[in-house]
Amino acid sequence: MYNKMSLRDVNLKGERVFCRVDFNVPIDDNGKITDDSRITAALKTIRHITDQGGRLILASHLGRPKGKPNPKYSLAPVAAHLGGLLGKKVRLAPDCIGVEVKNMVDALEEGDILLLENVRFHAEEELNDHIFSRQLASLADIYVNDAFGAAHRAHSSTEGVAHMLSPAVAGFLMEDEIRYLGKVLTDPSRPFVSVLGGAKAQDKIPVIHNLIKKVDALLIGGGMAYTFLKAKGLEVGKSLVQEDQLNLARTLMGEAEAQGVKFLLPEDHVVAPSIESVTEFRICTNGDFPPTWMGLDIGPATIQKYSSVLTEAATVVWNGPMGVFENETFAKGTFAIAQALAESNAVTIIGGGDSMAAVKQAGLDSRMTHISTGGGASLEFLEGKKLPGIQALNDKML
Ligand code: 3PG
Repeated sequence: MYNKMSLRDVNLKGERVFCRVDFNVPIDDNGKITDDSRITAALKTIRHITDQGGRLILASHLGRPKGKPNPKYSLAPVAAHLGGLLGKKVRLAPDCIGVEVKNMVDALEEGDILLLENVRFHAEEELNDHIFSRQLASLADIYVNDAFGAAHRAHSSTEGVAHMLSPAVAGFLMEDEIRYLGKVLTDPSRPFVSVLGGAKAQDKIPVIHNLIKKVDALLIGGGMAYTFLKAKGLEVGKSLVQEDQLNLARTLMGEAEAQGVKFLLPEDHVVAPSIESVTEFRICTNGDFPPTWMGLDIGPATIQKYSSVLTEAATVVWNGPMGVFENETFAKGTFAIAQALAESNAVTIIGGGDSMAAVKQAGLDSRMTHISTGGGASLEFLEGKKLPGIQALNDKML
């Protein structure tokens, strides 16, 4: 799959190291970081570079500031938080290019860290503009990409700069993501089961399409399940259905059957008149779905069935919740899957985004083999797409 050079292959002492990280973390109105997983996941790379005497220049985006400076998307809270985690000063540059930034880089001693201001304050970043990439590259000698979460973006700091500095290598977080996600696609221990959920069928259909060729079983939940159930001609009441995906859904179920892949859909549901319902809800089976209500979680029989399949699995990839788990009434299915994964002996890989949030909320994150830091990036990886941020890195010499 990928065979990229890593930090281990590079002499860092005294070098100016441009390290792209994904510090796109949630920050509340008081400037408090509400989930620092993406920062802590990059610490191993950061510590390695500074311990080896590298002069570290960190670059990241935060949010979508649309190519203009905007204090709301400043990386200032991240610099302070990272400094606290490392127990050392992390300076924040006022920009990511320009004379002042260059002077700050020149002043770096071995082991020092400078965090550049949000690269998306320049429209050129997302355009992967050649001149902008050159300006970023002029700050450093070596390129390290540890931003798996942004590896599906071909932007200046994730892709352009990688072609301009040598060597261009993967950080430890990037390496872990490539190893775990790569192994499930190329050489998974079997049985290999994938649990896929989330609201829209459309978002997961490309993943299903790719995984059907690899897995032994697919367990489907979340809003997307109703498109598949309707495609089978079942009553789904007012549940979320993507009518334009019904034919594709049928084709995929046909493919699964032809390949001998188990394609499991919910047998029972937690149904309610609306997504906001708290007290008015009930369990129904596929045979007695109330025509004016909607399915908002998998029911107890489905939980039991899915859990028993997961107990037998040797590899599990999970992406997307089983229900509207933000509402406690519809959270049981998602948390039961998290519990089944925690109790299984399988290699458990959690796609980023909502499934990561669910595993954390359940307090089970430490019991998973690998939790991806990428939402969109892990999905595109599982779809079988090549990610530009990884592709641009140097291949290992054979
Ligand atoms: C993410 O949060 O998925 C990554 O940081 C990428 O962000 P983007 O979708 O704004 O490019």
